[in-house]
Amino acid sequence: MYPLIRNRRLRTNESIRSLVRETVLSPNDFLVPIFVVEGKNIKDEIASMPNYFRYSLDLLEKEVKELWSLGLKSVLLFVKVEDKLKDNTGKETYNPDGLMQRAIKTVKHACPDMLVMTDVAFDPYSAYGHDGIVQNGRVRNDESVEVLAKMSLSHAQAGADFLAPSDMMDGRILAIREILEGSGYTDTGIMSYSAKYASAFYGPFRDALDSAPVDAQDIPKDKKTYQMDFANRSEAIKETEMDINEGADIVMVKPGLCYLDIVRDIKNTFNVPVAVYQVSGEYAMVKAAAEKGWLDHDAVMLEQITAIKRAGADVIASYFAKDVVKLLGC
Ligand code: PBG
Repeated sequence: MYPLIRNRRLRTNESIRSLVRETVLSPNDFLVPIFVVEGKNIKDEIASMPNYFRYSLDLLEKEVKELWSLGLKSVLLFVKVEDKLKDNTGKETYNPDGLMQRAIKTVKHACPDMLVMTDVAFDPYSAYGHDGIVQNGRVRNDESVEVLAKMSLSHAQAGADFLAPSDMMDGRILAIREILEGSGYTDTGIMSYSAKYASAFYGPFRDALDSAPVDAQDIPKDKKTYQMDFANRSEAIKETEMDINEGADIVMVKPGLCYLDIVRDIKNTFNVPVAVYQVSGEYAMVKAAAEKGWLDHDAVMLEQITAIKRAGADVIASYFAKDVVKLLGC
């Protein structure tokens, strides 16, 4: 007796494998995170993120033109804020001449059709490295949401297409949607970091922006009172449902690889585009192992990103975007 069904027939050679392949990557899948700094002619490599850089505005222009020529049509902007502008009020976040506001205009000037998404959170602006106003050892929710709404409006006024609140305060999507609608920015979208976990994988990002929580008395040492507990699954559904009801157009799960069960849950439960953020620590792990010669960089990169898409990601924010697109030659 031999098996009638031989699954290996569909794996005989690359032609048949590619014919029946279920998940294929393209430049359209990617959202490219970009770090921006004040200054001129700066392309500064981030120590814990090899081959990833912070750009001053003049070089940002060149970088986005290159992305566009590779078919990468969406960017997610982050800024490294100068120490002298950091405080506990977040007022620099809505400065119309702030670095983020100028970065948005720079990208739109260089590449008018590039979709510009902006990080809405004030940890890079916070003297304490938190995503909100700190008082009596707590990160205040409602006071922080008010600032996030003003920050969002100022990004929209500078020309942002989509706002990406990454702070995890309660009620911020509604507050942002309301201020946008009230000011006529009805077409400005919101991509909410809905299920964002308190993760140790954000370390290199905090190096990049110098935004880690400071170690001082009465300052929370971590972000566990607002970001989610990584042991929880159904809570991600509750968070995501709230954000959709408050007006989120795209929802996000973050980090990526360790959270693909959550991605699939959300994909199966809601009918909105799902974004996944493959975060800085995930990038750093691949780079470090490859540098040691322990893993094949390109093979592991493609396997991980394909897995993220297979799990249900419609949008992938990844520091590997350029590498993948160059490698695939698409
Ligand atoms: C903060 C923010 C973080 C990231 C994006 N926005 C870090 C944090 O929550 O401390 C992490 C992204 C990455 O690690 O690549 N608002």
